[in-house]
Amino acid sequence: MGLLITGGEIVTAETRTRGDILIEGETISAIGLGLKAPAGTEVIDVTGKLIFPGFIDPHVHIHLPFMATFAKDTHATASKAALVGGTTTYIEMVCPSRTEDTMEGYQKWKKKAEGNSACDYAFHMAVTRWDAQTEAQLREIVADGTASFKIFLSYKNFFGVTDEEMFHTLKLAAELGVITTAHCENPELVGQLQQLLLSEGKTGAEWHEPSRPESVEAEGTGRFATFLEQTGAAGYVVHLSCEPALRAAVEAKLRGVKIYVESVLPHFLLNKIYAERAGVEGMKYIMSPPLRHERNLQVLWRALGAGLIDTVGTDHCPFDTEQKLLGTKAFTQIPNGIPGIEDRVNLMYTYGVKRGGLDIHRFVDALSTKPAKIFGLFPRKGTIAVDSDADLVIYDTAYRGKISVKTQHTNNDYNGFEGVEIDGRPAVVTVRGKVQVRDGVFVGEPGRGRMLKRVPQYGHKHEEVREVVHAD
Ligand code: URP
Ligand code: ZN
Ligand code: ZN
Repeated sequence: MGLLITGGEIVTAETRTRGDILIEGETISAIGLGLKAPAGTEVIDVTGKLIFPGFIDPHVHIHLPFMATFAKDTHATASKAALVGGTTTYIEMVCPSRTEDTMEGYQKWKKKAEGNSACDYAFHMAVTRWDAQTEAQLREIVADGTASFKIFLSYKNFFGVTDEEMFHTLKLAAELGVITTAHCENPELVGQLQQLLLSEGKTGAEWHEPSRPESVEAEGTGRFATFLEQTGAAGYVVHLSCEPALRAAVEAKLRGVKIYVESVLPHFLLNKIYAERAGVEGMKYIMSPPLRHERNLQVLWRALGAGLIDTVGTDHCPFDTEQKLLGTKAFTQIPNGIPGIEDRVNLMYTYGVKRGGLDIHRFVDALSTKPAKIFGLFPRKGTIAVDSDADLVIYDTAYRGKISVKTQHTNNDYNGFEGVEIDGRPAVVTVRGKVQVRDGVFVGEPGRGRMLKRVPQYGHKHEEVREVVHAD
C-alpha cells in the first residue's frame, strides 16, 4: 500500500515549500500540490507540521565492548530509540580490540545488526591494528560496502593506533578512496596526566577533564590533519569538543586538507560542571573528549551555524549507573560514554533552531544531508526528492514536553538531559515508506532496517563529495 502525505511544509537543507508527497513502494514517487491518491493509498494529513528528511546519526556505538564492560543497547532498543527521536539511519562504529581479528570483528558486528534494527544502518570499520592480513581484510570490508574507516588516536593498547599504524591506514584509505573518521586525542599525554593525577590522590570524576585538556585534543586534531595532508586521504574528526581543536581543524581546511568536522549533542548543551557533580552523578557525564568549560559551547554553536562544524552526531554510548560505578576508585575506570540517539533531533531543534537562531536548513544539513553526502548515502538518504528513500520525519513544532528516563526507549537507567524542555517532536516517522512511529510510540516493523552498502567516493584529487546512488 502506498502513502500520500498531504498539507505539510517540506524542509530540506536548501528549500522550504508546501507540497504533498506520494510514496509508492519504498521511495518517493511524486512531490507537488494537490497530488491524487492512487487506489489503496493511505492518506495522512499533516497540515501545520514540518516534513524533514529522515535524520542520520553518523556516530553511534551499539555493540561496544569497552572498559571492562559493554554498552547497554542492542540494535532492537537503539533503533526504536532512534526512530522515536526522528533518526531513520545510523552509522555504527565496528570496534574490535587490537587483539581481535579485524574480519571476525566485522562479521560479528554485522550479525548483531542483521534483522534486529528497525531503521537502516551502515558501519564505519575501526582499524585497531596493522599487518598484512588486516590490510587484506580491510580491502574486502570496503568491497562489502563499508566505505569508511575509524581510528582512535586515544585509548592506547586497546583501540588506539600508533602514528605508524595511522600512516598505513590513511595510505590505504587514500588508495581505496574511503574516508577515515578519527577520535583525536594525544594518547601519551592522556596516559601520563592520568597517572600524575591519580598519584596525587585525585581520583574522582571531576579529574577526567583535566586528564585530557583542550590542548591534548587540539594536538590530536592537528596531527590527524597533518597525516591526512601527507597521505592525501580524506578525514573526518569525530566528537570535536572545544575551540582549540576546532581551530586546528579549520586551519587544516584552509590549507586545503580534505577534513570534515563532527561535534556531538552533549558538547552543545552540557559543560564540565556536570562531570564535577558528586559520586555517580558526575560519573554519568564522563565521556571522551570530556565535557568542557562553558565558553566552548557558544563557539561550537557559532561554528555549526557557519558550517565550520559539518555534522552533528551523538556518539551514543549508554552505560548504566552500575557500570559507571566501576570507576568509584579511579576516574580512569569509569566507562566513557553517554546516550543521545533519541534526543539529538529534538534538542538541536529546540536549542538551535527554536531558541538559538540556528538556520533551519543548516539544522537539516548538519543532522541529515551532510552526513549522507560525506558517507556516500546521498541522495538515497538525506533529502526529500523523487526516487529518494521515503524516510520522512513529520515534525510537530507545537509539541511541548520534557526529556525523561521514564519515557525513553534507550536501554539505560538515566538520561543525561533529564528534565530538559523540548519544543517539538516527531509526530510520524517513516522508513522506506513504512510508518514506524506515531506520536512518540513505535508502531512499526522491528526488523525493517537494512544495512546500507556504500561505495568509496574520495578520489585522489580530493574532489568534493560526489552525489551518487548506491545499490544494496
Ligand atoms: O566517551 C566516549 N566517547 N565513548 C565512546 C567511545 C568513543 O570514544 O567514541
Ligand atoms: Zn571517540
Ligand atoms: Zn564514539
